[in-house]
Amino acid sequence: MGRQPLRVAVLEAERTLAAAGVASPRADAELLAAHVVGVPRGRLMMVPLVDPPVLEEYRALVARRAAREPLQHVLGTAVLGPVTVAVGPGVFTPRPETELLLEWGLKAISGVASPLVVDLCTGSGALALAVAASRPDAEVHAVEADPAALSWARRNVATHADAGGTPVVLHAADVRWPDLLSELESRVDLVLCNPPYVPNGTPVPPEVRVWDPPGAVFGGSDGLVVIRAVVTASAALLRHGGRLAVEHDDTHADAVPELLRRRRVLTDVQEHRDLTGRPRYATARRAGLPSRA
Ligand SMILES: C[S@@+](CC[C@H](N)C(=O)[O-])C[C@H]1O[C@@H](n2cnc3c(N)ncnc32)[C@H](O)[C@@H]1O
Repeated sequence: MGRQPLRVAVLEAERTLAAAGVASPRADAELLAAHVVGVPRGRLMMVPLVDPPVLEEYRALVARRAAREPLQHVLGTAVLGPVTVAVGPGVFTPRPETELLLEWGLKAISGVASPLVVDLCTGSGALALAVAASRPDAEVHAVEADPAALSWARRNVATHADAGGTPVVLHAADVRWPDLLSELESRVDLVLCNPPYVPNGTPVPPEVRVWDPPGAVFGGSDGLVVIRAVVTASAALLRHGGRLAVEHDDTHADAVPELLRRRRVLTDVQEHRDLTGRPRYATARRAGLPSRA
């Protein structure tokens, strides 16, 4: 059989993915095609015809996505702001909404030279690496408790360091430990955290239920178990004037700011929504003036 039109295969894939209940069938069909032919999505039109083995490979990837394997697992990578990280079984797939947390954090340290930054619950390392890529002068630490996630994070941290990026310091640790990163106590300019926060028992789509590790998604019966520990750890780690941002469930618009306000040392508590008005993350500042070195 001769070369075949890619456009027809993409339309067929879009129909297959829509029938399987995939939320963005056109985008996924095009991104998978772009991956297989090795061009950016916007240049697919430049590849009118493909060889049968390429089509076969494409259909195999579409079938995995139709079985509701996350797009990023099928591609093998996920993007967060300026970084691309490797993802697969055993690690949480970074989500685009976490870029809001990243943007807020980068603004918070825009006036700080050589900032000290901590990413709690780092998963693949995406958030820590995105800060390191955006602020090469920063010292970035990342904490993760789960061994499977840690091995993905190690791999991503090494890849970015090999490419000349600022190394991220990875800690195999639990945010509930009372002496967490005690060597950084009262010194940190920014803590960022996208913790597990979905209340146990909340229905989630197959991509999450089957592929994201439960310990990365669910945060106890009220979804706040890990967030409570993160607030405690952050209060100890932040310097005077240091900032904290924690992503949370959309049912936590009152609960997380309330947890932050209950800490005497935290002030300037704010709740943030995304462009659709959905509550997404809360921020706070460690009270007191920054001490002069
Ligand atoms: C929602 S995922 C976020 C991963 C990453 N920050 C991101 O945005 O892609 C939460 C991560 O927290 C880790 N985690 C859960 N409980 C933890 C704990 N007590 N201490 C440290 N890490 C924890 C999970 O293993 C998972 O990798």
